Amino acid sequence: MAESRPKVWVSQPLFDDIVERLHAHFDVVQVPDVSEHDAAAIAAALREVDGALVTLNERIGRDEIADAAKLRAIANVGVGYNNLDIDALQARGIVATNTPDVLTETTADFGFALMMAAARRVTEAERHLRAGQWQGWNFKGLLGADLHGSTLGILGMGRIGQGIAKRASGFDMRVLYHNRSRLPAEVERAFNATYVDFDTLLAQADHLVLVLPYSAASHHIVDAAALAKMQPTATLTNIARGGIVDEAALADALANGRLASAALDVFEGEPAVDPCLLALDNIVLTPHIASGSLATRRAMVALAVDNLIAALGVGPDAGRPPSPIAPAKQDDNDAKRPGTA
Ligand code: DGY
Repeated sequence: MAESRPKVWVSQPLFDDIVERLHAHFDVVQVPDVSEHDAAAIAAALREVDGALVTLNERIGRDEIADAAKLRAIANVGVGYNNLDIDALQARGIVATNTPDVLTETTADFGFALMMAAARRVTEAERHLRAGQWQGWNFKGLLGADLHGSTLGILGMGRIGQGIAKRASGFDMRVLYHNRSRLPAEVERAFNATYVDFDTLLAQADHLVLVLPYSAASHHIVDAAALAKMQPTATLTNIARGGIVDEAALADALANGRLASAALDVFEGEPAVDPCLLALDNIVLTPHIASGSLATRRAMVALAVDNLIAALGVGPDAGRPPSPIAPAKQDDNDAKRPGTA
């Protein structure tokens, strides 16, 4: 009797021509439309399969894998993997992988774009124009803050943080950073970046960018007390995970002139956005698209497919997925690790 092929679940429509590579090795259960899967639906899907290709929208923890007796690998399409309970997966011997590196430059580009948009009030100005409020060139209208020559603060100096620091040198910015662990001196020199404590970062940054991983430790690390330490002329940009910022405190600071402007690509309850944020003019809001260039999203899917094939013990890298999420990784300087984005 022919041996049955391993089965994998692809939780969202991705790029068919790339996902197609899974068909050479596995029976593929492909979700045809963009879908919200609740815990029961994820558990039901995982119960039937040997592996899964999932996105940040699928939260996979103890309950979802409780009956997944055959499950051996979860390939996350994303560098951040706070949607996965790594301890639970490891306890069951299920390999988890993510997609670092391939999105670093694209995400850093977008972080820089958001920071500029917040500083120079780009989306606010566009809304003003589209609403027919532009009465002619106004010498004092919609004045913003400069990036060039200002002080950039980076919270979380992993690969994406370093990408932002690299871009800042072209703008003659002074770069300060704070990270769980200080970077080696040669790396600091390469990025012309100075390590400071968290309070100094808050106090001195003209533009603060959040690129740290999300975890219990970083939950609401930017709260009312932290915001109060920032300059009222400063901007705050978040491209990590929404839960890092206390959104109510941020909205209050922006509404009451204690912070000039902000830019958020990520939200604590996404896709829901706190109405307090939506009501403000001095904030740029985008729907979690920092890694969203076509080339990068394709590269993320390609890496996740490679990971899944290898993690399930077939293909040229059988048993050696290119980017496993290892416990040791939680202590490196990755920009987005669980327990922290
Ligand atoms: C990631 O990969 O973690 C990003 O947030 C998705 O763009």
